[in-house]
Amino acid sequence: MEVVNTITVMQEKCENLRLSGKRIAFVPTMGFFHEGHLELMRVGREISDIVVVSIFVNPTQFGPHEDFESYPRDMESDLAKAEGRNVDLVFAPSVNEMYPNGYQTKIMVEKVTKHLCGLSRPGHFDGVTTVVAKLFNIAKPHIAIFGEKDHQQLTVIRRMVKDLDMDIRIVGVPTFREPDGLAMSSRNSYLNADERASALSLNKSLDLSEDLCHQGEREVLKIRGAIEAFILRHPHTAVDYITICDPHTLEDLEILKKEALVALAVKVGKTRLIDNRVIKPA
Ligand code: PAJ
Repeated sequence: MEVVNTITVMQEKCENLRLSGKRIAFVPTMGFFHEGHLELMRVGREISDIVVVSIFVNPTQFGPHEDFESYPRDMESDLAKAEGRNVDLVFAPSVNEMYPNGYQTKIMVEKVTKHLCGLSRPGHFDGVTTVVAKLFNIAKPHIAIFGEKDHQQLTVIRRMVKDLDMDIRIVGVPTFREPDGLAMSSRNSYLNADERASALSLNKSLDLSEDLCHQGEREVLKIRGAIEAFILRHPHTAVDYITICDPHTLEDLEILKKEALVALAVKVGKTRLIDNRVIKPA
């Protein structure tokens, strides 16, 4: 496994791989790997010749009062884990390498960023699309792999790739969970034992929404209310949003007719966690 820190070296290596006929799968990450990240690498290994991973905590997707500085980082352990998953190439640039003096370009996807996390984290998705577009130009992948845990991010990236005619296949991978159902996240490391217990309410509330839907409940307001009441029964929780929407446009629904995305963001203590599930009336 090779580790590259500069854009020019990375572009040259990836260009040579393409020229030699290799198919490149790319997994962009902010590091501090858990099994969810490793699962994306495993899928990449399965569907391509070369697996490229980037590790870059991207400052432009964090708001001024968010956790950019304190975001967990452990490069040494990440590299060992990536090597364990037979990753071929890791790109780990500095902030200055990605955003040198004079940098002034942004990519913005319009409608699908105006819901869910886009409302509570203004500018977040501009940072995501901008860095992902840059990383695509650097790693030159045929395939790029993202987690469904960040359903809106995946939707926004698919939109960008389509709208800008990027010749890259986007693959979504189901959310990888702890044995008790908590969606894996680098931010779970912030939780103390009590908060960790309350954090289970996110996935359990998604179970509840699915049960209600299967029992015939079609009114979004009622399902939403039940989810909120369930989550708030757990200590240390504060709801940022609970939304039941179209899984593709992310526009709010009032009545369940076909597939719907139940997406939530909940603060547990100081830690903001997200989870989601697509539910379907029988
Ligand atoms: P990060 O949060 O490190 O996540 C990297 C990738 O891992 C994303 O595609 C995310 O959806 C996926 N992922 C995270 N937790 C997962 C889980 N439990 N199961 C499956 N996949 C999971 O998302 C980002 O970084 C950044 O926004 C990035 C795309 C790298 C741009 O900076």
